[in-house]
Amino acid sequence: AIERKVDSVLRLMTLEEKVGQMNQYNGFWDVTGPTPAEGQAALKYENLKKGLVGSMLNVKGVKDTRALQKIAVEQTRLGIPLLFGFDVIHGYKTISPIPLAEAASWDMEAMRRSAEIAAAEAAASGLHWTFAPMVDISRDARWGRVMEGAGEDPYLGSQIAIARVKGFQGDHFTEFSVAACTKHFAGYAFAESGRDYNTVDISDNTLHNIILPPFKATVEAGVKTFMNSFNELEGIPATGNAYLQRELLKKEWNFDGFVVSDWGSLAEMIPHGYAKDLKQATEFAANAGSDMDMESYGYVTYLAGLVKEGKVSEAHINDAVRRILKLKFELGLFDNPYKYCDEAREKATIGKPEFQEGVLDMARKSIVLLKNDKELLPLRKTGQKIAVIGALANDKTSPLGSWRIGADDNTAISVLEGLAKYPGNTITYEKGADVVTGPTLFPKELNINTTDKSGFDKAVALAKKSDVVVMVLGEHGLHSGEGRSRSELDLPGVQQELLEAVYAVNPNIVLVLNNGRPLALPWADAHIPAIVEAWQLGTQSGNAIAQVLYGDYNPSGKLPMTFPRNVGQVPIYYNHKNTGRPSTNDPQSVFWSHYTDVSNTPLYPFGYGLSYAKFAYSDLKISAPSFSGDGKLTVTVKVKNTSKVTGKEVVQLYIRDLFASVTRPVKELKGFELTEIKAGETKTISFTIDQKLISFYTANKKWEAEPGDFKVMIGGSSATVLEADFNYTH
Ligand code: IFM
Repeated sequence: AIERKVDSVLRLMTLEEKVGQMNQYNGFWDVTGPTPAEGQAALKYENLKKGLVGSMLNVKGVKDTRALQKIAVEQTRLGIPLLFGFDVIHGYKTISPIPLAEAASWDMEAMRRSAEIAAAEAAASGLHWTFAPMVDISRDARWGRVMEGAGEDPYLGSQIAIARVKGFQGDHFTEFSVAACTKHFAGYAFAESGRDYNTVDISDNTLHNIILPPFKATVEAGVKTFMNSFNELEGIPATGNAYLQRELLKKEWNFDGFVVSDWGSLAEMIPHGYAKDLKQATEFAANAGSDMDMESYGYVTYLAGLVKEGKVSEAHINDAVRRILKLKFELGLFDNPYKYCDEAREKATIGKPEFQEGVLDMARKSIVLLKNDKELLPLRKTGQKIAVIGALANDKTSPLGSWRIGADDNTAISVLEGLAKYPGNTITYEKGADVVTGPTLFPKELNINTTDKSGFDKAVALAKKSDVVVMVLGEHGLHSGEGRSRSELDLPGVQQELLEAVYAVNPNIVLVLNNGRPLALPWADAHIPAIVEAWQLGTQSGNAIAQVLYGDYNPSGKLPMTFPRNVGQVPIYYNHKNTGRPSTNDPQSVFWSHYTDVSNTPLYPFGYGLSYAKFAYSDLKISAPSFSGDGKLTVTVKVKNTSKVTGKEVVQLYIRDLFASVTRPVKELKGFELTEIKAGETKTISFTIDQKLISFYTANKKWEAEPGDFKVMIGGSSATVLEADFNYTH
């Protein structure tokens, strides 16, 4: 029925109006001020009134979206409503942890709920569409946008991508859900040397087996839109890449939504050296299946002309416009263009107490306990003198992280505020050193090399007279995100020196890390007894951290991305290939795949994380030594909580395909179960292995299972596993 409605509108449209639907403008005018009279804003305003704008981004709030919608509906010839898009990445006003942190929870329901909260607040503010989830599998911690994804694993990444799409979109659209956008299609995270926007040069094997699975998973989950990406693939910019957008996404995967370009990515095909000018870029993008132009002004300027010249077929235009109109119908905007514009709902929805509870729950679940020697944690609740040191302990903005443009600065609960809710101890604070200087909006003002050590003496003196020191160190929330790659993975500024100076007088340190990417902290791992990975946890950050430090919440997070020992190991990831020289029996040998100055192993592996409980794995059993065709195997393992406290464990299933038509990783995650185990209790966890689970993109360029020998491994991280063998035949 929607198709018929779409066609009935399409039939009324001129070519220019069709192209207008494919044009997306950034918010260009403060709608409460005077109408723009000159320059680019005036041109955009005229185009809006002519029906030459299909969508806008970065306009938010009921008042503004309603005012603009009114122009589209009342002043354009056909009155087609606008679609308002926004980067609602991890919350809108009530901020949840950065997506990489959320991924550490391995808790699909919590992540679905987190996206649902974000959607409800965004929709109440007049927004229809979020540019999320980012599903780029990332192996390079230097890349600033690792904070926005689900880490390095395609299986975990696919499950998380599905949960997020379901959370944003719901089962069907209501006033509390928004359309999701899977991005960036494809390969963006594989920028050479982790430098944002850099060249991507990857094999077909990596593209299909590692990068594409989460994208495909979201198509199957019903995602409404895709965003292409800034990078090139096989020398062709993704925006002009017909294989990706037309062949794979729309034809093979049967995706019936639309593709929006990334910001200016049409025009970027010129400096890429692919299009000679914006007109040619427009032709390439439209022919390649890029349906909406975000801020390149190529479609609105040239596309109608290109159709008239016969360089782009009107069938391509009709296809793109149908896809865009379809979403507008699905959202209910043709029935009521102001469906998302209700001031009372906006007021009642933003920051609801249940949303605060939801993001607090997500924040606690995202924390990963990396080290807990001497059982320094949980902290005792009374009678302790606790020193809290580090600028990030007293920061109410940094925990909001990057990509939280709907939120207001200074709205996060700081660690100090969280700890203050436990009055039984004496808490004293010293900053010690800054993480950044100056205003923190733009990376150029984030002075990573802050050198001021004038606060060291006071911090050291305080540590000396305290029982325990809680040091909150790491990156500011804006050290990661778009355009914020780093070449070092250390603690920025003089924080490492501060840590060592404090350690020299009091080694009873709990190091709470705030960071938007894996860091390389070998000294801390070797010396500091307790290390808590607390990322950037959003609005409820300080409460979540305090509850974990005091043991009111038992941490269960597991790393979604490998932490290296040093930058030279990067890219480092658990599902690497074996190579022809993985090891040698000769301890004197030089000629095997290794470094001479650092081991091959990471500091903390993928899937790793501790609990205040302890878990022992035993009795890995497989139902048969082999299976064939459509058959299956069951593999079981016993997990015992050997401690005195209840805890949650992520039981992880890995498989290795020992030989194949193309080389396979040393292990691949193929299942997991997050389960609560009571003190002293033993649980039996079982997984099913079937053909689908062992399928991969083979030398035939198809997803299929190949006969052969396999290893199955189960454990509490990618590095600690029990194993058994099995065989598969056709
Ligand atoms: O959605 C983003 C994208 O991820 C990066 N470039 C800008 C877009 C719109 O803000």
